[in-house]
Amino acid sequence: MAYTVPDLNYAYDALEPHISEATMRVHHDKHHQAYVDKANAALAGTEWEDVKPIELLTRLEELPEAIRDTVRNNAGGYYNHNIFFRSMSPEGGGEPDGKLKNALRDTFRTFAIFKETMEAAAMSTFGSGWAWLVHDGSRVLIVTTTNQDNPISDGLTPLLGVDVWEHAYYLDYENRRAEYVQAWFEVIDWEVVAKRFAAAPVPDVSYILERTVSISGTMIPFGDITLEGARTQSAELGALAGWGPMAKVGSIARAWGELAKNLEGRGADTVSDLDAAMVKKAAVDLWVIPPERGMI
Ligand SMILES: [Fe+2]
Repeated sequence: MAYTVPDLNYAYDALEPHISEATMRVHHDKHHQAYVDKANAALAGTEWEDVKPIELLTRLEELPEAIRDTVRNNAGGYYNHNIFFRSMSPEGGGEPDGKLKNALRDTFRTFAIFKETMEAAAMSTFGSGWAWLVHDGSRVLIVTTTNQDNPISDGLTPLLGVDVWEHAYYLDYENRRAEYVQAWFEVIDWEVVAKRFAAAPVPDVSYILERTVSISGTMIPFGDITLEGARTQSAELGALAGWGPMAKVGSIARAWGELAKNLEGRGADTVSDLDAAMVKKAAVDLWVIPPERGMI
């Protein structure tokens, strides 16, 4: 099944003044189309013809050498541009909220630091390439790729990417890449990015959530622990801290306090509403699972 260039969800001039109609027309209709045409030509008649681009990009080393680089560049170009054009909207800009906001805060502390880091990554890419916000299974981070490589080839889930090939900005900004990246931030569709974040694969922590722990003498699943439960544990164990026979009790009490803080900060009803990475860390700190399993 041959690739086709998806239509834009908005008019060619809809992103002005940040990105011009002329740039959008040449970028979408010429460059994106060229990647599609070359990918189709390379894959036609091969056993890889019907393999989805995401799968191709994660199995590049299995491709015949004769078409590997062409597929890497052009199936990559196709996939990257699909992400790029769908991540922009005339109603875009601003900042994300909800779980994506929390994830950005966990890694970068503030949205302003995230934005600065993304801009620095975009500026640091020598020649043609991309800067990406990705999910690695437990947190978000920023990476860059050259040419049309995609982070998915390194096992990362792309959430948002800025195209820093000159064809993306030269008509509007000439060599002023930094200005273009600033303008691109004004059209980011954070709702689309949040959906990708929600769908990003995370480790299965169901076995941790099912483990039972004692809260005030009652055994309940770790996943069902509430803010009140965590606070109670923190207070009860905190009162025992320093008592000789219970050497670890102080650090366990602090870990319950940390869990309570996370539940409160995330507005989570129970531990099962927390991110997988947070569940895992709390479970290790509280000895709900042994440290070696938590490190997997
Ligand atoms: Fe591009």
